[in-house]
Order: sequence, then C-alpha cells, then structure tokens
Amino acid sequence: MAEPVQTPQAFSPRIFSGIQPSGGLTLGNYLGALKRFAEKQNEGIETIYCLVDMHAITVWQDPAKLRQQTREAAAAFIASGVDPARSILFNQSQVTAHAELAWIFNCVARMGWMGRMTQWKDKTAGKDTENASLGLFAYPALMAADILAYKATHVPVGDDQKQHLELTRDIAMKFNNDFGVNYFPITEPMIEGAATRVMSLRDGSKKMSKSDPSDQSRINLTDDADTIAKKFRKAKTDPEPLPHDLDGLKDRPEARNLVNIYAALAGITPEKVLEDHGGAQFGAFKPALADLAVSVMGPITAEMNRLMQDAAEIDRILGEGADRANAIARPIVDQVYDIVGMIRSRPV
Ligand code: TYM
Repeated sequence: MAEPVQTPQAFSPRIFSGIQPSGGLTLGNYLGALKRFAEKQNEGIETIYCLVDMHAITVWQDPAKLRQQTREAAAAFIASGVDPARSILFNQSQVTAHAELAWIFNCVARMGWMGRMTQWKDKTAGKDTENASLGLFAYPALMAADILAYKATHVPVGDDQKQHLELTRDIAMKFNNDFGVNYFPITEPMIEGAATRVMSLRDGSKKMSKSDPSDQSRINLTDDADTIAKKFRKAKTDPEPLPHDLDGLKDRPEARNLVNIYAALAGITPEKVLEDHGGAQFGAFKPALADLAVSVMGPITAEMNRLMQDAAEIDRILGEGADRANAIARPIVDQVYDIVGMIRSRPV
C-alpha cells in the first residue's frame, strides 16, 4: 500500500452540478435543475455550476451549434437566477483539471461498472455498441471528475442522474482505498422536490427530454406563450377529473406529471395542488397550468433572449468563471498526481 498522504478528515460543504449543452433546455431541466441551482445560492454554501461541453461531444455535435447551445445554456442559467457573481459559472473544457482527473478515474473505475449504467444501455439500446464512442462509455468517469475536482460534497440533480452519482461515490471510495487516503469526499446527491422527474407530455412513462423526437413531448425554455399553452392543452391525460389526494394519482402517470409540474412551478406541494384543484376536469386544469407556466417561464425566456444578444459578454462571464474554477481545481488535481505517484518536477 502507498504511503498515506495528509488529507482532511472532514470536507467543507461545496455544491457542484452540471448541464449538457447538447440541445435546447426543457422545463425538466428548469424544474429539476436550474431553478434549484438558483435556490441553492441562498443556503450559504459555495455553488459551482458547469456547462459540460466535453460530455456533450460523447455523441456527435455540430461545432457551430455546440457553441451556440453552450451560450444559450449559460443564458438559461443566468435568466433562471444563477448569479455569476455569487456562483461560479463556466464551461467544462476551459478547465483542464476535468479531463486530467477523468483520465485518472478511467484507471480507477472498472469496465463492469460502466457497462451497468442505464444511460449507456439506453443510448446504445438496439444499436451496434461497436459504433458508440469510447467517450460515451467512459462518460460517468468524467462526471465523477467534474464533481471531485472540487471535492464537492453535494450535487443537486434530477432523478435520472442518481446512478451516475452512485458511481461517483464508488470511484471516490475506490480511489481512497487504493491509495490509503481520505482524499475525496463521498458526495451526497440532492434529489428533492416535486419535479425530480418531469415526464413527457405525450407519454407519462417517459422522461421529458431534449432528445425526444417529438417537440410536443416537452416545453422548451425558448417556447413562446402560445406554444406553451398549446402543448399543455394537447398533453396526454385520462378522462377522470383530478382526485382530492395523492392516492388518487396512482396508476395515472400523466395526471400525476401535470400535478407535479404545477406544484414545482407554483412552489407548493402536490397535496396542496389537489386540495385546490381536486375534482376539476382537465379542461379547466390545463389552462390554469398553462397560465402558471407562462407567468413563470415568460420572463425567463425574455431574459435569455436579451442575454443572447451579447455573445461576447456571455463568453466573458464563462471565462471569468473558468479562472475561478481553475483556482480551486488545479491544486486538488495536482495533489492527485502526487498521491498516484507521478513525478512533478516543477513545483506548483
Ligand atoms: P442533463 O444535461 O441531461 O440534465 C441536466 C440536469 O437536468 C435534470 N433533468 C431533469 N430533471 C427533472 N426532470 C427531467 N425530465 C429532467 N431532464 C433533465 C438532470 O437530472 C440534471 O440534473 N450527466 C449530466 C450532466 C453532468 C453532471 C455532472 C451533473 C455532467 N457532470 C456533474 C451533475 C454533476 C446530464 O447529462 O444532465
């Protein structure tokens, strides 16, 4: 076993999370992530948020579109209330510590762990895995590197990222064990609230996703008021009125989804939504939901559009965030090299 390196026994709280700029963002991204990222700024914990452009290229991205989508995602963060003065906001590729630590973790993680990831299985389902990128397979090791390059203790995400965060914990534990250190924290996922899994508006068993071929299945952060209203009006439901309590939503995935979306948008519990709307037909509930969604999302979309007018300013914000992120991650990754036994000739 390697000589133990002096490392802290306790880790100071730090929040890290990321979003892929691999397409337009959805109401699922907003409720499951962005809205909560903004709220976390008020909890007295350092917050670091990242546009994970290196994750995005695990599947083909048109370069010009990737740049545009990265700026648009940055605008979505800021329009949703993430303040670049209070949080660190940057794009992953500008901080090389992510790629460097990912390589170390590629050597810590096991092939079997990666092969069991449901996202890998979903993205390659029915397809020839021979033709999937190696990066897609190794994706969760880069995600662990994102988090652990900052020794982040808490990671707010939607429910779909749970398995990846468990793998991050496994990687941290194996690294600590292999090298006889207590260097990395065992990160806690934060999967909270009514909207941890916003479902498709066309199929209550599928997650709302930017990669769903049907645009009707999702609300995009760039949709205007009419489009939002139309999509909710056409959302799949059943013929029953809304129940008066949560039990009544069992086996009604579409109804449950709309109630959860309403609750998350209004900042109330699903129980309270049913207290107020129990007994209502969807003919009445859907317009109420659409009005609420427009009142919450309208100002965000408008602010995104305003911010997108000034690409240079967005790039400046991301660059400044990258400098601040690098100042934290660089010494952490340098110490990892030392722990692993790499010669560092030039003192840092
Ligand atoms: P991504 O880009 O798919 O999604 C970004 C965030 O949005 C959440 N989300 C949802 N929440 C509720 N309902 C939905 N329908 C929905 N769709 C998406 C996701 O759970 C996520 O929190 N692997 C990550 C990106 C990543 C990351 C990280 C996250 C890379 N490194 C480090 C946290 C920490 C991903 O693909 O998220």
